[in-house]
Amino acid sequence: MDDMIYLDNGATSYPKPDEVYTFMDRFYRQFGVNPGRAGYDLCMEAGEIVEETRKLLTSFFNGEDPNRLCFSYNSTDALNIIINGMLQRGDHAVTTTIEHNSVLRPLYHLMKFKGVEVDYVRFDKNGFLDPDDFPKHFKKNTKLVVVNHASNVLGTIQPVKEIGHLCRKHGIPLAIDSSQSAGKIPVDIQDLNVDVVAFTGHKSLLGPTGIGGLYVREGIEIRHTRAGGTGVRSAVRTHLYEYPYRLEYGTLNSVGVAGLNAGLKWVLEKGLDRLHQHEMKLTRLLRDGLKEIQGVTLYCQDDLKDHIAILPFNVTGFEALNTGTMLDVDYNIACRTGLHCAPLVHEQINTMDVHGAVRFGIGPFNTEDHIKTAVQAVREIAEVQKKL
Ligand code: ALA
Repeated sequence: MDDMIYLDNGATSYPKPDEVYTFMDRFYRQFGVNPGRAGYDLCMEAGEIVEETRKLLTSFFNGEDPNRLCFSYNSTDALNIIINGMLQRGDHAVTTTIEHNSVLRPLYHLMKFKGVEVDYVRFDKNGFLDPDDFPKHFKKNTKLVVVNHASNVLGTIQPVKEIGHLCRKHGIPLAIDSSQSAGKIPVDIQDLNVDVVAFTGHKSLLGPTGIGGLYVREGIEIRHTRAGGTGVRSAVRTHLYEYPYRLEYGTLNSVGVAGLNAGLKWVLEKGLDRLHQHEMKLTRLLRDGLKEIQGVTLYCQDDLKDHIAILPFNVTGFEALNTGTMLDVDYNIACRTGLHCAPLVHEQINTMDVHGAVRFGIGPFNTEDHIKTAVQAVREIAEVQKKL
């Protein structure tokens, strides 16, 4: 819908740059064969786009070896590969209450079915983790720390570099979930002391759904927990140990890789910093507008330092879903309500009784007019409540 205001960029970015649609269409028509499975020209050319994208992403995350950049479907898929491939019976892991279910659920499953132990570091009243809380939970059998780089509910960017420094000091690998950060802020694994990063292509990297992946630093080994086709060395009975095959299974989503290639190039051309500044300017405008409205509660938005452009709120007297429905039906504004797949965040900010919060997620194509309209819409919804 032309006049819809899309403020659900935390769920997925929309629209994508024209270059993404155009390149996906061209790639799939011209090279839509199975990359890396044979030696004919088209197959080689499709494979070249995949390998170029591996290199682009490796450099984007400041990794060293493109073969250690493995494609998956999305962050959840990558995090399952990481968590199940790095933990086993008898192990202990440390994670946080700011995580998405993409981390919480694979860990719950290991707790329930494999007896893995998990400790949770809590975030503070502003939505940030304290790095010094991590070593308090480390044990002899701690094999993994998993941390969300930027919260999909609160928008807070976590002090990963300091957490990573402490993990290194104790010899424990650190994996991060960069679902919300990649494409918004730098995710430099060397600078951040990160060992494994999981990413998705369809959010701020501006690619399509169904493509994501992970980068595994040299010296860290992830066991393969699946097995299948790799396109090479087919006579070997077990799944291959060498990267990237070790963590890739079956035919790749090649058209997804092509879209991610175009999305990432668009982000790099515009410049991460410039895009982030634009989104944060709009976030400040939104925060300042909503803060003035009586009956609106904002969560962890007082100081927007170390934030990405995600803003959760509620209107007193309404469940989150009701506010979202009014925004949709009466104002044609798209946003996400509920628990945002991050139940522990909502438990901690006390929003379970209104079934979560309303979340605005700002993207590169949002404008000041979108924000002004959204603020006015919330003002009118808050007025309705006062008249009830
Ligand atoms: N994880 C996505 C979100 O936060 C889907 O909305």
